Amino acid sequence: MKFSLAAVLAITGLAAAAPQWGSQVSRPATSSASSASQVSRPSATSSFTPPAPSCLTSSDATTLVNGFQSLISNYTLATAEKLLSNDFTDTSDSINILAGYPLGSTTFPSKAAFEAGQGSQPALPMTILSIDSVDCTKVGFRWTITIDPTKPVVKGINSIASSYNTTTRAWQIKTVYSEFNSCHWMNLIGGTCKGPGQ
Ligand SMILES: *[C@@H]1O[C@H](CO)[C@@H](O)[C@H](O)[C@H]1NC(C)=O
Ligand SMILES: *[C@@H]1O[C@H](CO)[C@@H](O)[C@H](O)[C@H]1NC(C)=O
Repeated sequence: MKFSLAAVLAITGLAAAAPQWGSQVSRPATSSASSASQVSRPSATSSFTPPAPSCLTSSDATTLVNGFQSLISNYTLATAEKLLSNDFTDTSDSINILAGYPLGSTTFPSKAAFEAGQGSQPALPMTILSIDSVDCTKVGFRWTITIDPTKPVVKGINSIASSYNTTTRAWQIKTVYSEFNSCHWMNLIGGTCKGPGQ
């Protein structure tokens, strides 16, 4: 099939948000801690290092979602290395059942496992429908992937958690939870999934 397991695995990264979303996402109130880090300090020297932010901004969230989308739609190892934390994991029973992995297991238990799986997958056109929630470290969003342009898209929901990398001074994706219409996906790639009596 044109899209097989590779396509399934790609979903994991699907979470990315389109850049234009940024303007639509309401900015959560900035915490006092992150506000402090954004205040310019007149006495700061070139060696001054601001404290790590304690919470995501909506802009940070959009950057993470966009990055995740690019891992699905246009994977590069460089992006994965930059975007994913060293303790990255990705969990999806939707992928597990398509891939034949045990239900309940961690689909990609490491950054290396994700890179190996995602890096060998065909690009999947993913559209971010919306970023629906941003809290201090987590982002929730909805997406679609087109597998067959003549058939309905596959719809899914992701929740990602992030951690701040004090070396690169950027937020990274630490965990991904992704679930989607794996029955429809199964049918699109040549499998059979039906409800009783259908
Ligand atoms: C995919 O990523 C590469 C490398 O970053 C970039 O040059 C290219 O324009 C991207 N393609 C799309 C369709 O975004
Ligand atoms: C932060 O990023 C750097 C550069 O990619 C990497 O070497 C380091 O391991 C990262 N730290 C964590 C906790 O992921």
